[in-house]
Amino acid sequence: MYTTIQAAHSYWAYLVLIVTFFAVINAIMGLVSKREYKPQDFRISLFTLIVTHLQLVLGMLIFFTSPLVAWFNEGVGMKEIMKDPTMRLYSVEHPLMMIITIALITIGYSKHKKKLTSTPKFKTLAIFYTLGFIALLSRIPWSSWF
Ligand code: HEM
Repeated sequence: MYTTIQAAHSYWAYLVLIVTFFAVINAIMGLVSKREYKPQDFRISLFTLIVTHLQLVLGMLIFFTSPLVAWFNEGVGMKEIMKDPTMRLYSVEHPLMMIITIALITIGYSKHKKKLTSTPKFKTLAIFYTLGFIALLSRIPWSSWF
């Protein structure tokens, strides 16, 4: 069970990175070129939202099954977790930062939908998706993943 979820979470992360990066570039290009917002732009933003939300579900599942999450280990408390960089990354920093990423993407998606013209739509997507992408890059466990 753990191995399956771990593999799914690990491989799905490639898709999350590629799709989010693509959505960020698309939003920035749309904003800079002042072009019209098309159904295809909506699909890109929605697809990013779906892909990241699925990763959130996998992340929640792995949080409760991974031996790297120290919260459920006997005799390990907040102090020990915060002192150890690896334990802190898997138990606190990575989950928290990824939830922030997904929240930023969700806010960006719903705010951009309410805008009526192209430039504000692209601007909202560019701001929130870029911030989400930066948060994403900041706390991926790169050393164990690559
Ligand atoms: C955009 C969302 C996310 C991305 C891109 C992402 C990406 C990753 C990557 C690349 C790894 C390393 C996998 C490996 O070493 O093979 C990982 C591990 C992990 N992630 Fe995430 N993650 C996300 C969301 C979450 C969330 C929301 C949680 C918890 C609530 C979470 C919990 C974990 C845990 C516990 C591990 C360690 C798993 C293990 O190897 O035992 N992740 N994540």
